[in-house]
Amino acid sequence: MRRLQEDSEPRLSHGFSIRRMTLDDLTAVMALEQAAFKNPWSAELLKRELEHEWSTILLVEEPRESVPPLLLGLAIFWIVHDEVHVLNVATAPQHRRRGVARAVMEEVLERGKGRRCCLATLEVRKSNEPAIQLYRSFGFRPVGIRPNYYADEREDAVVMVLDF
Ligand SMILES: CC(C)(COP(=O)(O)OP(=O)(O)OC[C@H]1O[C@@H](n2cnc3c(N)ncnc32)[C@H](O)[C@@H]1OP(=O)(O)O)[C@@H](O)C(=O)NCCC(=O)NCCS
Repeated sequence: MRRLQEDSEPRLSHGFSIRRMTLDDLTAVMALEQAAFKNPWSAELLKRELEHEWSTILLVEEPRESVPPLLLGLAIFWIVHDEVHVLNVATAPQHRRRGVARAVMEEVLERGKGRRCCLATLEVRKSNEPAIQLYRSFGFRPVGIRPNYYADEREDAVVMVLDF
């Protein structure tokens, strides 16, 4: 699968700039992962995602004058056949409730629709109320439970699906 040129161009959405991650972003992305999650993705895992044609890591940045943009959030998703699978969404703790996750999820779903996907799926911790509310607000609905999916704390995952 060839990457389209426009696929890599930054896009403005709700005042944020959204673009694909590159290897140069690794340090900043690791810092965001560590701030956002108790069990952050490792550098190795992130690097591997960058190599997978089916995987996309989108970064949400705040454009600033005279200094480089500030990384506010990210989303990692796969497109496999007709399905968008969302693996990770995170916003830097000090920038939450500003619409960062909403902006990146909109972009993820738009890209999926643009690639003729017909549904989006994800797993989310049962206790993660902010994320479940976020996904519900896009129309995702819970369709099942994966018991002890998160082995670290033996927490169940809720499987959510959105039909396009
Ligand atoms: C979940 C998370 C990504 C939301 O990011 P955010 O940028 O603050 O979300 P937004 O400002 O775009 O909010 C969009 C919607 O999500 C829901 N939401 C977000 N935070 C919420 C909270 N603390 N409580 C309830 N609903 C919440 C709301 O529906 C909100 O819409 P509203 O502001 O109009 O009410 C963020 O809390 C986060 O990074 N959490 C840690 C990482 C994580 O758990 N990721 C998801 C699992 S992969």
